[in-house]
Amino acid sequence: MEEKIGEKFQRETKYDRNRLPGGSVDLNNKPLMYKEYPEAGKIALPAVERCGDMNLYEALLRRKSQRRFIDAPISLDMLSCVLWSSSGIQRKEMGFAFRTAPSAGALYPIETYIIANRVTGIENGVYHYQVKHHLMEELEAGDFSSRIAHASLGQQMCASAAAVIVYAALFERSVWKYKQRGYRYIYLDAGHMAQNLALASASIGLGCCHIGSMFDNEVNEIIGTDGTDESVVYMSVIGQTGMCV
Ligand SMILES: Cc1cc2nc3c(=O)[nH]c(=O)nc-3n(C[C@H](O)[C@H](O)[C@H](O)COP(=O)(O)O)c2cc1C
Repeated sequence: MEEKIGEKFQRETKYDRNRLPGGSVDLNNKPLMYKEYPEAGKIALPAVERCGDMNLYEALLRRKSQRRFIDAPISLDMLSCVLWSSSGIQRKEMGFAFRTAPSAGALYPIETYIIANRVTGIENGVYHYQVKHHLMEELEAGDFSSRIAHASLGQQMCASAAAVIVYAALFERSVWKYKQRGYRYIYLDAGHMAQNLALASASIGLGCCHIGSMFDNEVNEIIGTDGTDESVVYMSVIGQTGMCV
């Protein structure tokens, strides 16, 4: 019987005692850890001192996928909180910046983009989260709400959400070290980041839902990634639901 791509992937990226398909790591060619858009306008994000006051147990009880949002905007403080919680730098050890979510080999292959539909104080448009300085870089201004809903198989929550968070993988950051097995880790990394975002959202009273169904290249076109070296792997929507914390 013909082996399907998923089965082949499982087989070829499996470690067993006779086969560790790693190979050597070329330390002189480590991919850059941070993506930056030097020409882009910068939006400073408020420093995150606290993300709400809810304890973890309560946030776990409240987290659920929310797909209906009201028109009210979210604040830049809220956006800053969820971005930091999913993708931000949380500590430095021996000069190396570690982040809020774990990452295989601390390689951090996922870049985070924001499609702002309703965020107080910033124009609607597409932004890149610049991890190193906790700021947003403006990629394109405009109303992308219908386009991103269309690109996610018509899921209207992408249009009604205050913001759509797009996780895109720069595959080489992981593949550089782990070769084809790196692809497993990339998707696991994105899951960790999204769960942090979901819990942070719950703790500050925002609704959140993750999205795996999208026309990948239509989303790539919106965020300006080529779909080969860098591609969307996951998305989350966040917004006000009208429910109190
Ligand atoms: C990998 C993944 C992809 C998902 N994709 C979608 C999606 O495209 N659309 C959607 O409405 N929900 C999506 N969800 C949300 C799930 O439907 C939801 O988590 C599940 O029904 C359990 O409900 P709960 O999150 O409220 O506990 C996704 C969840 C995960 C983890």
